[in-house]
Amino acid sequence: MTAQDYLSELFSLEGRVAVVTGGSSGIGKAIAGALAHAGARVVIVARGEQALSATVEELAGQGRETAWVSADLTTREHVRAAAEQAVRIFGEPDILVNSAGINLRPPMGDIDEAVWDRTMAVNLEAPFLLGQRFGPGMAERGFGRIIHVTSQQAHRAFVQSGAYGVSKGALESLARSQAEAWSPHGVTANTLVPGFVMTPLNQRLASDPEKVAALAARTMIGRNGLAEDFAGAAVFLASRASAYITGQAIFVDGGLSVH
Ligand SMILES: NC(=O)c1ccc[n+]([C@@H]2O[C@H](COP(=O)([O-])OP(=O)(O)OC[C@H]3O[C@@H](n4cnc5c(N)ncnc54)[C@H](OP(=O)(O)O)[C@@H]3O)[C@@H](O)[C@H]2O)c1
Repeated sequence: MTAQDYLSELFSLEGRVAVVTGGSSGIGKAIAGALAHAGARVVIVARGEQALSATVEELAGQGRETAWVSADLTTREHVRAAAEQAVRIFGEPDILVNSAGINLRPPMGDIDEAVWDRTMAVNLEAPFLLGQRFGPGMAERGFGRIIHVTSQQAHRAFVQSGAYGVSKGALESLARSQAEAWSPHGVTANTLVPGFVMTPLNQRLASDPEKVAALAARTMIGRNGLAEDFAGAAVFLASRASAYITGQAIFVDGGLSVH
């Protein structure tokens, strides 16, 4: 067996179909690209059509089979419609990545029901509904990978965690519930836990060089995260290689959480 064959056996995603929410920007975009480069056909889901089509075009230019569905994941109806639209493109997915997320950040006392509802809808309900739509089919077929992108704020408060931290804590619990339900049937559910990653989500904080440097100093590696840092962990969690890892939170944070 060549080294290439060995690596393919462990990590290749050839023949797999993936749905990646938030696949048009930041961490989700990097994960969508990584899964596509590892062989999967990938449907990305987000709102903005320009960023969606630019991402797909970029990957198509590199010979990757990808497609997009535009949907606002704040309403259940749109989540359901997005799932059906995605399935019509490459068929039922083997891999579901929930990376779409919002962080509205009002001070705790100012969080009203609208902020709470929107945060829970995008960060928690959409992953739940997509899991309910795709998880049972994955279990029936005997293979599936559910990967949620959570946050260090699932584990501790950080810069006005508010409703966001709550949604991410619940998302980690959702991964464990899904893992408990479907792991006996070959479907794993895990979370990737970012620390501070330089993406559009953090534009405001990232424009303050002093804060950026202070956050980098809190990691062990000495720099803040980049979207590309998630590629390897995502391919691993999506592949056969991670078959015995389920219900886990994998921190991709340069050591921030243990420093
Ligand atoms: N960056 C960090 O430091 C960090 C830290 C911890 C956790 N995270 C988590 O990592 C995930 C990705 O974050 P990121 O930093 O990559 O953010 P990002 O660059 O802002 O990307 C967010 C993605 O989600 C999509 N999205 C947002 N609201 C949506 C909605 N209502 N319906 C459908 N799609 C929606 C966005 O596209 P549209 O706007 O076009 O819809 C975009 O594709 C999030 O879950 C975030 O909470 C990030």
